[in-house]
Amino acid sequence: MRILSIETSCDETAIAILECESNEDAAKDTSTSTTFKVLSHTLISQIEIHREYGGVFPAVAKREHAKNLVPILGAALEELGEAGLLPEKPLQVIPENIRTQIGEILSRESDMAESFIQFITENNRPIIDAIAVTYGPGLAPALWVGVNFAQALALAWNVPLVPVNHMEGHFLVGLARTTESIDNKTVLTIDAPQTPILGLLISGGHTQLMLMNEWLSYQLLGETRDDAVGEAFDKVARMMGLPYPGGPEISKLAAKCREDEKSLEGTSEKLFSLPRPMIDTPDYNFSFSGLKTAVLYALRDIQKTRPEESAPLDTLEKEQLAREFEDAVTEVLIVKTVKALKETQAQTLVLGGGVSANPHIQKSFTETLADKLPNVDFQVPPTGLTGDNGVMIGIAGFYRAQRKEFVDPGTLVADGNLSLSKVA
Ligand code: KG4
Ligand code: ZN
Repeated sequence: MRILSIETSCDETAIAILECESNEDAAKDTSTSTTFKVLSHTLISQIEIHREYGGVFPAVAKREHAKNLVPILGAALEELGEAGLLPEKPLQVIPENIRTQIGEILSRESDMAESFIQFITENNRPIIDAIAVTYGPGLAPALWVGVNFAQALALAWNVPLVPVNHMEGHFLVGLARTTESIDNKTVLTIDAPQTPILGLLISGGHTQLMLMNEWLSYQLLGETRDDAVGEAFDKVARMMGLPYPGGPEISKLAAKCREDEKSLEGTSEKLFSLPRPMIDTPDYNFSFSGLKTAVLYALRDIQKTRPEESAPLDTLEKEQLAREFEDAVTEVLIVKTVKALKETQAQTLVLGGGVSANPHIQKSFTETLADKLPNVDFQVPPTGLTGDNGVMIGIAGFYRAQRKEFVDPGTLVADGNLSLSKVA
């Protein structure tokens, strides 16, 4: 099955085309292995644009998606063409009634309508079996652009449309391993493990412990009551005068601090001590807004000791604060996740979402599990697929398409608060 997938839930505009092959019917048998050959993987990040605002602005995200979708579709098809997978037959003629329907859908996306019509009139329809699109959760205006684009495309090309939950994309891509490269194209493999599978989904918008009870059936064990982990990284980074997105910045400073400390052999003095919020509560919920406030107070305290008010932190202080913050977050995540693994007896733990790229978090999980739960298989997304991307939407779209979960174009509704869990 060849799938074209579209992702616009936040600040990345992404399209991927995957050739998916399952040994057996993966919708029924959890022990099958599926390969995903990445025929095309295009992405435009809006990070530079949002950096000015210190975070993602929904209206700006929507405008940028509308501007970027048609060009990256062009780039995706070009890649298909280079691989000899684009038919050269005469252009298809779109019937008048379908044109009217497309016009209605695109009347809500005036920024994109003209370039879309021109594109589908001038380009050949590729050979694909389904179009997958993220319809939630995320920023509603951003989601709608992708949903409307996908609906119009499904009509123009007359292919089935499959809606995808963004969080399922993060979960499933975490189970993928890069197995080989064929004709310069990456091949990912998912050997669907035995359920239950525990997922720790940590991104800019979510912090969730999600249990996959049966293949593709989820139960939310707990989540953050306020800020998501990535959001906390971003806000703390902002307070420290670091650019958006703050996660990688804090991570780099913290790594430097640990390195320096090694050479000092533990003789350095610890400058900051932050709380580990909710670490001992009997549930699986999290809270990171108090941690952020604690950082704010720590910054104020340190400034009070300075003759010149609002003097910036020096390098050593920045590194130490970043390290203590990253340690606090990691400890809370690990304690709650280990508790959930023990209680659910899950033998696979998967990390997903942008924050799962964090090397310290990955290393700490690896070490803790080796020590406490050596039988648990720990999986993280392939490099480059931790943050938002089209490949993860194509993977989830494949499993959903196998179950024939198609919708009629024109009827799909974006849902900013969409949940993955049946038992919320
Ligand atoms: O999954 P994602 O790309 O987008 C959402 O769906 O939210 O996650 C983005 C988040 C940002 O908050 C970013 O700061 C964080 O992931 N992030 C990191 C790292 N890389 C990205 N956080 C901590 N350490 C990192 N290395
Ligand atoms: Zn995401």
